[in-house]
Formats: sequence, structure tokens, C-alpha cells
Amino acid sequence: MVRILAFFVGLGFVAALIFSIIVTPFASTEESVTEEFHKQPKTLALASDGPFGRYDKQQLQRGMQVYNEVCSACHSLNLVNFYSLEGLGYNEAQIKAYAASHEVPGLDPDTGEPTTRPGLPSDHFPAPYANEIAARSANNNALPPDLSLITKAREGGAPYVYSLLTGYTAVPADLPAENRPGTGLHYNPYFANLNLAMAPPLTSEGQVTYAPGNPKPTVDQMAKDVSAFLVWTAEPKLESRHAIGWAALAFLLIFTVLTYLSYRQIWAEKKGK
Ligand code: HEC
Repeated sequence: MVRILAFFVGLGFVAALIFSIIVTPFASTEESVTEEFHKQPKTLALASDGPFGRYDKQQLQRGMQVYNEVCSACHSLNLVNFYSLEGLGYNEAQIKAYAASHEVPGLDPDTGEPTTRPGLPSDHFPAPYANEIAARSANNNALPPDLSLITKAREGGAPYVYSLLTGYTAVPADLPAENRPGTGLHYNPYFANLNLAMAPPLTSEGQVTYAPGNPKPTVDQMAKDVSAFLVWTAEPKLESRHAIGWAALAFLLIFTVLTYLSYRQIWAEKKGK
């Protein structure tokens, strides 16, 4: 009896498997349309790529400027505090001044009422909205995600962010009506469902003014710089991780040689006999 039951349970599983294999390709035509128009991220070469990667501090500083002047209007950077900006090559006085140029939430010491005060190096970047409800109501009910970890959180990482920022195009003529952007949405083939609620944030050359000696602030350059900066926010310790990795490998190499030599030493006598 149990055997027969087991046989039917197994048969059920096999039937479900066959059903899913046959049915999946036809499951939803919408999927295949978005897949057809969806593009893979463009290539983006950053100094921090690869096992020898180090940050280009000049680029990170430019990227922070783009975040500060453009993206921070809608996106928070909740996990980054000002004093970690020394990783971008700023000194203590610069960090203090930079923190103080931001208003952060605080409490009035006399009344205990909520108020704002100039930032300190120990503060985090202040969020643009008080909470999710305020953020959504200002953005057509879409939520601008926190950008601290976005290059880790999204498949494609920094190249994806770069492609998204530079990838807005006109809606293709052959795009089916149900995939066309509705009100408040913008067509971008690098976004998984093709239409996103963020209007193109970088639109014109010179939107941000870089200090002399830096490349021209073209849309492409600003997008690259802010993507590089968001790699740093997601992993500020990347350089020391790389350095520790190489030191560990060097140690293992030396240790292997030592072990081999001591093996030879120990067995030399025995083998001789
Ligand atoms: C006017 C507000 C606004 C500005 C300015 C803005 N964004 Fe956005 N952003 C949004 C909104 C809203 C979303 C959510 C879009 C959605 O889910 O459809 C978003 C989403 C994103 C996403 C996530 C996309 C995904 O895969 O989910 C990234 C990355 C991003 N923005 C980066 C940036 C960067 C970098 C800047 C600065 C150059 C910037 N944004 C400026 C409103 C803004």
C-alpha cells in the first residue's frame, strides 16, 4: 500500500516537472517582451576593479560632488558617515567643514523639541525625506532607494548604475502599448521592467562644476564618477581587503616553501638508509 502511494507521489512530482517545463516558455508574453528590449549593462572600467584595484580618490571626490549636488535631493546615503570621507583623501578640517555644511536632525537642548543643527564628522549623511511616506509622496509613489549599498544590491553593480544613468532613450516605435511608460515613468532599457520612476537625473554637460584639473563634466563623466563613488560607499575597505588578501597569499607561499624544506630535512636521513 505504502509503495503504491509512494509511486503516485513520485508520479505527481514528475508530472509537475514536465508541466512546468512545457508551460514556462509560454507563461507570460509580457516577460519575453521586456526581455527582448532589456539591455545588459555597458562596460565600465574603474580603478578599483580586479584584485589589484585601488580607488582613484580624485574620481571619488568628483562622484561625491555629483551625489551631493544631484542625487541627494531624492536618495539617502544612510550608512555613510562624514568621518569615513578621509578614505577619499580629505583631511580633518575639510571633513569638519563639509559635515557642518549639512543640516542634520537634532534636538533643541532647552526644549527637547526636534530641530536641525550643523553636521559633525560623526553624523551620517542626512536623508532628504523624513520617512518612506514623505519620500513616496514626493516621487509619484515610487521610493528612491538608499544608495549606500546599491552597487552591491543590484545585479551588474557599478556598470549597471552607470548604464542606468546614461541609458535613457526614446521609446522604441515597436514597443507594445502595455510596455510603454505610463504617467511619471521614463523609458530606460537597462532597467529590468523598462520603465522607471526616476526622471533622467543627469541631463546636461556642466550640471556640476568640477574643480580645475578634472575632466570635463559631461553626462558620461558625471555618471562614471558617481558610480565609482557608490562602489566606495558600498565597500570603503576594499583597498585594505585587497592588501590583506595579497599578504595572506604571500604568507601561504612562504609557508609552503618552509614546509617543503622541512619535509626534505626530516626524510633525508630515513631515505638514505
Ligand atoms: C528627483 C528625484 C531623484 C533624483 C534627483 C535621483 N533619483 Fe535615482 N531614483 C529616484 C526614484 C523615484 C527611484 C525609484 C525608481 C523606480 O523604482 O521606478 C530611483 C531609483 C534609482 C536607482 C535604483 C534603480 C533600481 O535598479 O531599482 C538608482 C541606482 C538611482 N536611482 C541612482 C541615482 C543617482 C546616482 C542619482 C544622481 C545622479 C539619482 N538617482 C538621482 C529618484 C531620483
